[in-house]
Amino acid sequence: MKNILTVYSLIWLICLNINLNANAPQKISVIGTGYVGLVTGTCLAHFGHEVICADIDSTKIKLLNNNCIPIYEPGLTELIKEVRQKHKLSFTDNISTAIKETDIVFIAVGTPMDTYGQADLTALYEVAKSIGKNINKPKVICIKSTVPIGTGKKIKSVIVNNMDPEIEDKNKLIKIVFNPEFLKEGSAIYDCLNPDRIVLGGSKKGIQTILKSYQVLADKNVPFLLTDITTAETIKYAANAFLSIKLSYINEIAKLCDAIEADCGVVAKGIGLDQRIGDKFLRPGPGYGGSCFPKDSEALLYTSRLNKRPLTILEAAVKVNQDQVKYVFSKFLNLIDNDIENKTIALLGLAFKANTDDIRYSPAIDFIEKLKTHNCVIKTYDPIASENMKLKYNDIFYATSAEDACKNADAVIILTDWPEFKHIDLKSLHEILNKPVLFDTRNIINTDKLKELGFNYTNIGNCRVNS
Ligand code: UGA
Repeated sequence: MKNILTVYSLIWLICLNINLNANAPQKISVIGTGYVGLVTGTCLAHFGHEVICADIDSTKIKLLNNNCIPIYEPGLTELIKEVRQKHKLSFTDNISTAIKETDIVFIAVGTPMDTYGQADLTALYEVAKSIGKNINKPKVICIKSTVPIGTGKKIKSVIVNNMDPEIEDKNKLIKIVFNPEFLKEGSAIYDCLNPDRIVLGGSKKGIQTILKSYQVLADKNVPFLLTDITTAETIKYAANAFLSIKLSYINEIAKLCDAIEADCGVVAKGIGLDQRIGDKFLRPGPGYGGSCFPKDSEALLYTSRLNKRPLTILEAAVKVNQDQVKYVFSKFLNLIDNDIENKTIALLGLAFKANTDDIRYSPAIDFIEKLKTHNCVIKTYDPIASENMKLKYNDIFYATSAEDACKNADAVIILTDWPEFKHIDLKSLHEILNKPVLFDTRNIINTDKLKELGFNYTNIGNCRVNS
């Protein structure tokens, strides 16, 4: 009870305080210009703040300064143009200057998975050192990067240890806030401007400052959850882990549906109509990929093992996901009666999901690897992600259209749910393929039409797709 009251009184105090100075623009730097940093910086500028986006990668900064946006994210180019015209957003590769010139530093550098499944915090600690070395006035440090539970507290000591020894009351100069990111690649701008919630963990004063950064969202009645750093860090991992479990669950149900000839699409709809379950994240497929779920699940498992509190359900979900791509490939082998050696296979979709150019942990990579072991000729097409895949494989064929990739292929596999694949002309596809074999791992192709045209086809979970 005491805790609840403390939280409520804190909320009231903060609400009173932000409204006094509600629309004052803040000077903010965002360190790291990846998917999270660039989108966050742009949206903060859109909220009216003066934002500097900084990155040590000077090539990227040069591109940004020349209005070339190095990542594909719907709506990002337009929004950057808009805030640049208003002189609200600038780019620099000088991290020190960005830190010195601003009162709030958002950290949005990558925390990739290392070989032990832990998050690699090298970039994060480098930024912390720079903040310590360049501190010239009180600052609020807002961590956006997904970090292992407990990192928020450690960051403060890294910053303090790098401050000029002459500085007195070092601890008082900085306030740390953890503000987990919930945006999805492919709809990041929309998610950032219309979040389900904002979670802020940290000291009262730090939170007070970051609340002002998000005043525009408070005005739109977005729920704010204010808590301590460790709880906020746990919320981020627990949310991604829950979604990973939900996906692995539906993928297992899909396997069962394949075996018993139930329609997993209808099963998902039937259970999703129960509001306690909800209809999101119930689309079976080749398993989850991307830069977040695989990495964050492993990082949370690492923390659970460290604390001797096993997360058995999450362990199982990760295992199910690792097995899913094997299952999906075995379905393909089944479809083609194991006649795979030296065949020409068209892969439609290289990105880990639609509306992004990101290929990290994409099922396409697993498929390419597997097809290579069978000496297949691999012809691929993706509307956006081919350039990224070219950096990984230069010995496969990159077509400029789906038709081009499928011409004379012995089978086509749909790996990404791009809308343009959903509307592919099946009649002409049937004509250009060497054999009319289609494997839809995303359940987007109309099964009635496939049947009518005489395709040899399958999908995941025996779904009848008729739209
Ligand atoms: C995920 C979370 O959804 C975000 O809330 C979070 O902020 C982000 O990670 C992060 O931690 O930064 P993201 O990885 O961009 O976002 O992509 P999702 O849309 O969540 O998709 C993840 C994977 O699940 C993809 O491989 C996608 O194809 C797959 N998926 C998703 C399905 O197979 N079926 C579904 O029904 C939904």
